[in-house]
Amino acid sequence: MAPRKIIIDTDPGQDDAVAILLALASPEDVDVLGITAVAGNVPLELTAKNARIICELAGKTDVPVFAGCDRPLGRDLVTAEHVHGKTGLDGPSLPDPQMPLQEQHAVDFIIETVRAHDTGTITLCPLGPLTNVATAFQRAPDIVEKVQQIVLMGGAYFEVGNITPTAEFNIYVDPEAADIVFKSGVDIVVMPLDVTHKALVTKPRNDAFRALGTPVGVAVAEMTDFFERFDKEKYGSAGAPLHDPCVTAYLIRPDLFTGRHVNVEVETSSDLTMGMTVADWWRVTGRPANAMFMGDIDADGFFGLLTERLARL
Ligand code: BDR
Ligand code: CA
Repeated sequence: MAPRKIIIDTDPGQDDAVAILLALASPEDVDVLGITAVAGNVPLELTAKNARIICELAGKTDVPVFAGCDRPLGRDLVTAEHVHGKTGLDGPSLPDPQMPLQEQHAVDFIIETVRAHDTGTITLCPLGPLTNVATAFQRAPDIVEKVQQIVLMGGAYFEVGNITPTAEFNIYVDPEAADIVFKSGVDIVVMPLDVTHKALVTKPRNDAFRALGTPVGVAVAEMTDFFERFDKEKYGSAGAPLHDPCVTAYLIRPDLFTGRHVNVEVETSSDLTMGMTVADWWRVTGRPANAMFMGDIDADGFFGLLTERLARL
């Protein structure tokens, strides 16, 4: 089968970085047409820089990187330096990128790319707030029905929230954008915290990354060394959750994940539960299903895949 053509929309972020590395290491499965940066974990200037740092770490300087929206649709930006550090990629010491940032705006790149390809051949992979994707849908409604699928990291049902008691970070930062995407009618696959909190980098798993002995393996281990302290302190968990790599792993090995096709709506008005993903997991509402909401992962299979693929870079 020909590799799936994808656009990665991202706010790196250590876990975004691993998701990008996995995709770039898997050309037989995914063809990364471009990486679009959005403001999220850290401001846009840094996410656009970090995306290029990762491409250079992977030795894939031919992948175009675009900067997109620098703030949510209708709110001030909330960032997550408390998780990812000041740079967004704290941990390893990586050189500033030499490869250029593309001049085109990320939203224009998304619109142009979807329009230029046959219907049902482009998959969007958002790993951060959904601002770029929602803006593209608002500006160019004709592209919505052309998108093959959206596979995104965001939301939670059983795990509820990580940035507020009820909301996951990516959805909380731009709930209006998430609302537009979930109501778009596109085939959506969601990797919520319910899954990503089971994708934990335990010590043996991080040792396996480090033992690759390559710049990529060592950098991923060092990113995890930094990133894990937040979740270990907060949840008492065994290691850092690799949220965003669940998205790119799904494109390669969908069999690693199980979930339910259910209705998912986003809270956009209540201050108390802003950004909550109200997933009708038990199918009690009769509202039409609009997303494949994942609930479980074969974590050993996932880390096996990750280690095997990262070894190629
Ligand atoms: C999500 O928020 C960010 O901190 C991570 O990169 C991930 O995309 C997890 O809630
Ligand atoms: Ca992210």
